[in-house]
Amino acid sequence: MGETILTVDNLSKRFGRIRAVDNLTMHVEKGNVFGILGPNGSGKTTTLGIILSIINPNSGFFYWFGNPPSKNDRKRIGAIVEVPVFYPYLSGLQNLKIIADIKEVPYKNIDRVLEIANISDRKKSKFRTYSLGMKQRLAIAAALLGNPDVLIFDEPTNGLDPQGIVDIRNLIIKIANQGITIILASHLLDEVQKICTHVTVLDKGKNIYSGKVEDVLMDSVWVELATENNDELIMILQNLEKVESIEKEGNKLVARLKEGFTGKDLNEYLFQQGIILSHLATRRKTLEKHFLELLENL
Ligand SMILES: Nc1ncnc2c1ncn2[C@@H]1O[C@H](COP(=O)(O)OP(=O)(O)O)[C@@H](O)[C@H]1O
Ligand SMILES: [Mg+2]
Repeated sequence: MGETILTVDNLSKRFGRIRAVDNLTMHVEKGNVFGILGPNGSGKTTTLGIILSIINPNSGFFYWFGNPPSKNDRKRIGAIVEVPVFYPYLSGLQNLKIIADIKEVPYKNIDRVLEIANISDRKKSKFRTYSLGMKQRLAIAAALLGNPDVLIFDEPTNGLDPQGIVDIRNLIIKIANQGITIILASHLLDEVQKICTHVTVLDKGKNIYSGKVEDVLMDSVWVELATENNDELIMILQNLEKVESIEKEGNKLVARLKEGFTGKDLNEYLFQQGIILSHLATRRKTLEKHFLELLENL
């Protein structure tokens, strides 16, 4: 386990009769690109509002870096939660100088963040002449100014054209590769699939799934197996490097195989070990299918 960045513990928020966030618990570790995935109205923005201390929860707790919320820790968190307020008649550079003043960071940081966000060439243009994608990149540059440990995004690609979407996604990945932990709310499955390492799925404010993206969304081969003596089979599978994980499901075993290793390969191997399977079935991408169904039914 890595260092815990954020713990959300049984958080709830009601708006009148609506349960916007309902007993939500989740954990974000250092280096995660953590997706909060759910359809519109599932409580993503409210959750981000709470952890940014903009919205008060009705009950529950959250801890940043293991501590109750504090002004000092809040400075380590950058947020890009809506199209930000910049001065339209000032340039990108002038806008960032104002933000640097507010955040009390030296101007020398500005060039670096403009470079990362890839808007250096337009830094002298007035903000009002920027495309939506450039405005979004300037907002990211502004958030990076304070050298945050964590960056929070809410629907970062909403309203962007296809190239703008690719640019922003690549930029988020680039920032994550520099060691900044990312928390990102999105209603787009493919967005989470493309950029996140971990995901929590929300439905009506409830956490209905949490896990690694590669475990649910990536292509992987799962096989169901059974023999007379499953305990012996487990022993063999545990020692097999090509097997990623094994779980018991009733009187069957479900094994996840490493890429390039098939159910047929496994059967051959087991046969050589003197094990005759009474059941073998491949469940390719069943989890992904299951996951998509889950989302479609929300
Ligand atoms: N300020 C508010 N007043 C009343 N209801 C709200 C308010 N903010 C959000 N809601 C409701 O809470 C639910 C969750 O909203 P939200 O967190 O914005 O979801 P998401 O970001 O996943 O689309 C929705 O039903 C929404 O209508
Ligand atoms: Mg929202």
